[in-house]
Amino acid sequence: MSKRFYITTAIDYVNGQPHLGHAYEKVVSDVIARARRAAGEEVFFLTGVDEHGQKVQQAALAEGKDPQAYCDALAASWQDLARKLGLSNDDFVRTTQARHKEVVQTILSKLHGQGQFYKATYRGFYSATAETFLTEKDRLPDGSFDASWGKVVELEEENYYFKLSAHQDWIIGHIESNPGFIAPDYRRNEVLGFLKNEPLEDLCISRPAARLKWGIPLPFDAGFVTWVWFDALVNYISVPFALGDPVVRQGLAPSAPPAAPGLLAWPADLHVIGKDILKFHSVYWPIMLKAMGLPLPRQILVHGWWQKDGQKLSKSTGNVVDPLAVIDAWGLDAFRYYLVRELDIGPDGNWTDAGFRSRYQSELANGLGNLVNRSLSMIQRYRNGAVPGGTHQLARETEETWSRAVAAYRANALQEALRHAVALVTRANQYIDQTSPFKIAKDPARAGDLDDILRTLAEVCRALGILLWPVMPGAAEKLQRQLGFAEVNTHLAAMPPPLPAGHLIGEVFPLFPRRDKE
Ligand code: MSP
Repeated sequence: MSKRFYITTAIDYVNGQPHLGHAYEKVVSDVIARARRAAGEEVFFLTGVDEHGQKVQQAALAEGKDPQAYCDALAASWQDLARKLGLSNDDFVRTTQARHKEVVQTILSKLHGQGQFYKATYRGFYSATAETFLTEKDRLPDGSFDASWGKVVELEEENYYFKLSAHQDWIIGHIESNPGFIAPDYRRNEVLGFLKNEPLEDLCISRPAARLKWGIPLPFDAGFVTWVWFDALVNYISVPFALGDPVVRQGLAPSAPPAAPGLLAWPADLHVIGKDILKFHSVYWPIMLKAMGLPLPRQILVHGWWQKDGQKLSKSTGNVVDPLAVIDAWGLDAFRYYLVRELDIGPDGNWTDAGFRSRYQSELANGLGNLVNRSLSMIQRYRNGAVPGGTHQLARETEETWSRAVAAYRANALQEALRHAVALVTRANQYIDQTSPFKIAKDPARAGDLDDILRTLAEVCRALGILLWPVMPGAAEKLQRQLGFAEVNTHLAAMPPPLPAGHLIGEVFPLFPRRDKE
């Protein structure tokens, strides 16, 4: 058994309904996971929900519910979202699971035993929204705190602190000597910028139980629960621990008997996160791991934020995109396609309903859908559904598209992978217009030319059906079924061999029906 390619998403707070931003992160992670599997790698893909902390406690209280009952109901709806997004996750973590809580407490005991924590009184300004104390640097020029912090209150309380200051130098060194550790580059520079300019303050890792009950109790002091971020980050190793990962087990509990057969996942290859939680992942998390004696993740991939119509997504103003409503109206494949095609992993994006419709119409209905439909209908009509022998006249373009798209997937450049696929669709549609198979079909003397055209189109459709699978698994499967394959081929490691002459295609139906009236 070899180490799996281990990819994670952020785990979502369960204090509300999932929106476009949550769906985006999960979909891009799923595309990466699928592309890796398709290229022949073994993958472990983890997602889940973050259930503790003040926000969740408050949301439960507001509904008059016990926090656990509240979380149980919401966790079910988030799991349902994962299914409706077509995620191929291997596990789903909930931070209220015993398997997770036990590992958090093991780590706390270990670090406490090593003298990494101290208790102190702190007086400061606290944002419940961010579950964090703010510093003077967080103040606006007029002395107030930005509205995004929510209600900020002054608090004085005793807590446990994790000695971060001692770690400043090596973390800078690590980020500098591992250029790929944080991607894209501008996010890496952002982290290096603040690490080099601001001293790292020690991190408050507890909350008094008198103020916040909804958390994992500190194993060494019943008067406190664990700060939600310390708890949440641990999900990335608690699941591997529970599944017997030898690296995590050896690091955290060397005397515990190994669970067999163990998952080989840690270190994570890729943590996919949004830009707002970069510091937690690129500074706190590596320092926590180093203190535990565990290897660091290989890469943190940071995506931007979606807006709708140029405004922040917000439940209170009703400026939201409900992923499930879009999927119901347009289908899962169109939704996944749009997310990946519209926004590269990195910059911020803007959703407009008109933009969605227009891409659907031009690239899916008139582009890919029309290409497949025209090509296969002609094979049906002119050759009784049998792919003729002949020359693949777009072989060079298809091979180039294949190798570029596969390389782009591997580099997590998903938008680029789709750009290559779209260019091949455009080229093939042009080829139909230029070669006019409808006219040639009327001239029996040109049967050989028609064979070449039909073979070419069948081969292009076949390559596209495999290449597009990580992004649109459903549509790819339908395309391949229409081409006469009962079993979906997802194999990206090498181009498929040419279709045998006489290969029978299946029933032809529109992949992406035109929606002219909408
Ligand atoms: N629970 C923490 C993460 C803990 S990870 C150990 C959290 N949860 S969250 O629900 O607020 O956000 C989950 C993810 O969704 C984050 O990566 C965040 O960046 C992402 N998004 C939230 N809103 C978003 C957009 N509007 N657009 C894109 N992604 C966004 O933070």
